[in-house]
Amino acid sequence: YSETRKHFYFLLFPVLFSAGAYDPLDPTGNITIRWDVRSWVPDGYVAEVSLFNYQQYRHIQPPGWKLGWVWSKKEVIWYVQGGQATEQGDCSKFKEIIPHSCKVNPEIVDLLPGAPYNRQRANCCKGGVLSSLAQDPANAVASFEVSVGRSGTTTKTLELPVNFTLKAPGPGYTCGPATKLDEPTKFTTPDGSRKSQAHMTWTVTCTYSQFLALRYPTCCLSLSAFYSDTFVSCPKCSCGCQDNSTKPGICVEGNSPYLGSVMNGQDKNGLASLVQCTTHMCPIRVHWHVKANYKEYWRVKITVTNFNYGMNYSQWNLVAQHPNFNSLTSITSFNYTALNPYGLMNDTALLWGIRHYNDYLLTAGPDGYVQSELLFRKDPSTFTLRAGWAFPRRVYFNGDKCVTPPPDAYPWLPNASTKSTISVIVPLVLWMLANPYF
Ligand SMILES: *[C@@H]1O[C@H](CO)[C@@H](O)[C@H](O)[C@H]1NC(C)=O
Ligand SMILES: *[C@@H]1O[C@H](CO)[C@@H](O)[C@H](O)[C@H]1NC(C)=O
Ligand SMILES: *[C@@H]1O[C@H](CO)[C@@H](O)[C@H](O)[C@H]1NC(C)=O
Ligand SMILES: *[C@@H]1O[C@H](CO)[C@@H](O)[C@H](O)[C@H]1NC(C)=O
Ligand SMILES: *[C@@H]1O[C@H](CO)[C@@H](O)[C@H](O)[C@H]1NC(C)=O
Ligand SMILES: *[C@@H]1O[C@H](CO)[C@@H](O)[C@H](O)[C@H]1NC(C)=O
Ligand SMILES: *[C@@H]1O[C@H](CO)[C@@H](O)[C@H](O)[C@H]1NC(C)=O
Repeated sequence: YSETRKHFYFLLFPVLFSAGAYDPLDPTGNITIRWDVRSWVPDGYVAEVSLFNYQQYRHIQPPGWKLGWVWSKKEVIWYVQGGQATEQGDCSKFKEIIPHSCKVNPEIVDLLPGAPYNRQRANCCKGGVLSSLAQDPANAVASFEVSVGRSGTTTKTLELPVNFTLKAPGPGYTCGPATKLDEPTKFTTPDGSRKSQAHMTWTVTCTYSQFLALRYPTCCLSLSAFYSDTFVSCPKCSCGCQDNSTKPGICVEGNSPYLGSVMNGQDKNGLASLVQCTTHMCPIRVHWHVKANYKEYWRVKITVTNFNYGMNYSQWNLVAQHPNFNSLTSITSFNYTALNPYGLMNDTALLWGIRHYNDYLLTAGPDGYVQSELLFRKDPSTFTLRAGWAFPRRVYFNGDKCVTPPPDAYPWLPNASTKSTISVIVPLVLWMLANPYF
């Protein structure tokens, strides 16, 4: 009867879960920005600024991150190594050496991979791409060096910048205040023989909220099973078709002003998308097909389809939650790692494409999909094809939660056979007897 109870909780789960800054599958996920003041110069300092993506599965893809802040005094940026300010601003007061940026609220972006060698530094020049921690830890950090003038030149007189913003490149991240650390960062020389330390270190923590991103749902889940004729199609995403024709529809991230520019083909921020007109109007569809049921194993086929004309998804990833992920036996064509947000329950998987093979999900069209087959070993005490158990509890694409069909729409086993009727009814009655308040 414990099985029936699990089903009961499963039906309640989507109701209890709502999108907010807190992500239950990645409770401590954040992007931390660290400023290490490495040296003083006559009118200011040189700092190494690093962005650490501590999110398990949310990455930043092209056109990349944009880091902004507001200076507390009248600081200027003399130069940026491994990045650049998007605007120079008004430097008309300077006669001889002209600063790189005089804006009170500068915004820094990464350089492109082919940047001149003398403008590069470690962890730069990836076009603003920041990989997720679980998927590619080596590329989950970005950094640039900034030389700041007209600021304080001691730990006492330096004032921390305020109002940090992180765009990816659209909205979604909220950054806290800069906090000075009591213990500045220690750096170890490559040979490990000596440690040096920053004069001063401060950090800023930025967290993501799908709700703040004001996004239309970016993905949806559809379902089917070998034992059912029912194809449970995707719920609707809130993108609209331009009209009833075969023309693409429009999805807009962030605020609606972008709508006009995308219609004129002018969107340069990658914030809006032209999406193939489908019944669901979602840019991404994740299809979960229960393909086979063997004696000791069962098989699922996952297909991720891109309906977005304006976007190739590089380094895409998928998070899926299902109780049987603790005994995943084999997986084709995708890379896999277990996420373990609750410590004990090993039911969440991160799936992503294999480098140079299918890590690049192409725009809508004949090649705009990726596929994988998963083989699970059955746990006889929990395995069932009933009550939608074989389908995932949650699915995220690129860190955004997918809209899922209501649980009562899931494909069920045909209920015609007497055997199956008994096996459902008996545990249900036992469970009711065991629960006095039912
Ligand atoms: C940010 O992530 C790091 C690494 O997981 C963690 O140590 C830190 O507590 C997180 N910060 C916040 C404010 O959640
Ligand atoms: C920082 O942001 C807050 C809230 O948006 C605003 O009130 C304040 O004026 C900003 N400070 C600066 C220096 O821009
Ligand atoms: C689109 O087609 C449906 C059904 O064919 C019709 O009810 C609806 O009015 C049409 N909408 C527009 C904007 O033409
Ligand atoms: C997507 O990638 C393909 C192949 O690399 C390229 O031809 C196409 O222009 C790209 N589309 C977009 C919208 O970037
Ligand atoms: C979680 O499941 C994976 C895949 O079966 C397995 O390799 C891993 O050891 C499990 N981890 C824990 C903590 O049970
Ligand atoms: C799969 O991921 C692991 C860990 O990130 C990595 O070492 C490996 O190269 C990846 N394999 C493929 C085929 O992408
Ligand atoms: C099977 O279930 C469906 C929907 O729950 C119901 O309409 C139908 O009468 C059931 N058939 C039998 C034979 O119990």
